[in-house]
Amino acid sequence: MKRVLTAVLLAAMAMNLGAGPALLATGSEQVQQAPIEARLKDTLSQLTLEEKAGQMVQAEIGYITPGDVTAFNVGSVFCGGDQHPPLGNSAAHWLEMYTTYQEAALQSSSGLPILFGVDAVHGHSHVAAATVFPHNIGLGAANDPELIYAIGAATAREMAATGLNWNFSPCVAVVQDIRWGRCYESFGESAELQKSLVKPYVQGLQQEISATAKHFVADGATLWNKRNHRASRLLYNPDAFKIDQGDAKIGEGELRQIHLAGYLEAIEAGVDAVMISHSSINGVKLHGHDLIQSLLKSELGFEGIVVSDYESIHQLPGDYRRQVITAVNAGIDMLMEPRRWKYAIEAILDGVKTGEISLERIDDAVSRILTVKYKRGVMDRPIKDPVPASFGSEENRRIAREAVRKSLVLLKNEGSLLPLAKDAHILLLGPGRDSVAMQAGGWTLSWQGTIRDEVKGVSIRQGLASVAVDSGGLVYTDPIDAPKADVALVVIGEIPYAEGVGDNGQLTLDSATAHKDNLQALAEAKATGLPTIVILISGRPLLVTDFIPDWDAFIAAFLPGSEGGSGIADLIYGEYDFSGKLPLTWPKTARQFGETIYKPNYREKDYLFPFGYGLRYGK
Ligand code: BGC
Repeated sequence: MKRVLTAVLLAAMAMNLGAGPALLATGSEQVQQAPIEARLKDTLSQLTLEEKAGQMVQAEIGYITPGDVTAFNVGSVFCGGDQHPPLGNSAAHWLEMYTTYQEAALQSSSGLPILFGVDAVHGHSHVAAATVFPHNIGLGAANDPELIYAIGAATAREMAATGLNWNFSPCVAVVQDIRWGRCYESFGESAELQKSLVKPYVQGLQQEISATAKHFVADGATLWNKRNHRASRLLYNPDAFKIDQGDAKIGEGELRQIHLAGYLEAIEAGVDAVMISHSSINGVKLHGHDLIQSLLKSELGFEGIVVSDYESIHQLPGDYRRQVITAVNAGIDMLMEPRRWKYAIEAILDGVKTGEISLERIDDAVSRILTVKYKRGVMDRPIKDPVPASFGSEENRRIAREAVRKSLVLLKNEGSLLPLAKDAHILLLGPGRDSVAMQAGGWTLSWQGTIRDEVKGVSIRQGLASVAVDSGGLVYTDPIDAPKADVALVVIGEIPYAEGVGDNGQLTLDSATAHKDNLQALAEAKATGLPTIVILISGRPLLVTDFIPDWDAFIAAFLPGSEGGSGIADLIYGEYDFSGKLPLTWPKTARQFGETIYKPNYREKDYLFPFGYGLRYGK
């Protein structure tokens, strides 16, 4: 068709009547001069109800063909955590996939382009050889607004190099319980961190693509509870999902004081989308909650797209048709329905036919979707000239390395063991010593991350060795070499995980998400009698109270990403000083799980390390 594009062009030209020579300009220039509202009004008037309903769904690429996108005028497709282009996972494969789907959309009866979404939550990390930045919890420790702007812009450049135009990031959850598997997707437990970081992050991302503040709202407040989310327990394991997708028992005061901060910032930054949370507040699932309309859209004045989370409307009461109607009437504009998108379109159409969904609601939803497509330039240039060189570039890796340096937190340094001399002989032990995959964590190459050696980057062993090699230093990895070493450096931590799979009620060094070799590595180090430095790679604090007396130095590295090895070496050898501060309270015992700075009478001395703690070499 191109019906809409033609109509838009004519409308734009009509508006310029009398403008003399401007009419002679090329069509696309004419189009860009017309205000979005005028173009939107005209476009909307051209669409059939079926085309509008198609715009309101978002399907996952494994369950929709380019031909379906053409036939159903689908508004958006996405690649979830476990989907990849059919032919390979390079940036070129992603660009090819994007182009194929986009060209198909342009052939539809409406001619409207798609938004193509992905979870680039720490860089464009599903794609092989992307720059993988530290996860948000490390960025909270760094708390550097300029740096996070640069990370957002770099992520957007890598996405744009593959064509994609919609990022399901940032997660603005204010995590209140470290047992939550999504703890590392949060900047930390204090809303002050969201106030400082969300706006620049969104602004950086939206240099090129659409950002999404998620998950509305209070996803960080859900309570530990065995009975959460039956379907997920059946699907994964019976002990999982004890907190993820659960219920937040909070009053309005707490909601506003703690959990709204990120949305206020994101909206002020002009964020294009807000994703609704899988969780509930006081027993009411957010996908049907009146907070979407009353708070997000009316009070906060959010004018972008409200998108549902992955099949989350299925948790609403009633049959599928009822779930769709409830969600749309609650104010959801686009339904992330990876598999059932076709039924979602049918349910929307049926809801309009029976009068259960008003035409005004449909027009509001579609206007929001189209406005984002106009604002982000997708209407005018659905297929841009990609800049392949910006994918995984040196410049982006430099930003990531800086982020690593700023995100590590020095928690103990007895006798100033650190920094090490560059000619030190180091015995490097532990499961994380040579694993970029472990440094990267979840949402890397796949949803749950990977344990295979397939993430491009610099491991801790490589980072240290590249300094030592020119300075007479040595890095041993076999305990047999202990007599030749000056110091033992043990890298322990968590294996990669994402979402509810990472829920963990124990958080000990040998619990479900911890690497199985942690304790053995610590025992090996202890047996050498060497002064010992421990680096913990994890999405959150683990209980180390019984072990820390054995350690001379202790560093929380969180999930530092692909440049982890280089950034860690910068600090270990004292090229740079530490500046990171704990974005979370570090408990002494399991009884303190769920305690944060918002606890009445929070006393710093009650914890192993309080929120905000972090040492430096210098004064
Ligand atoms: C997660 C979202 C994510 C979506 C798409 C969901 O399970 O909760 O954060 O954006 O999947 O991958």
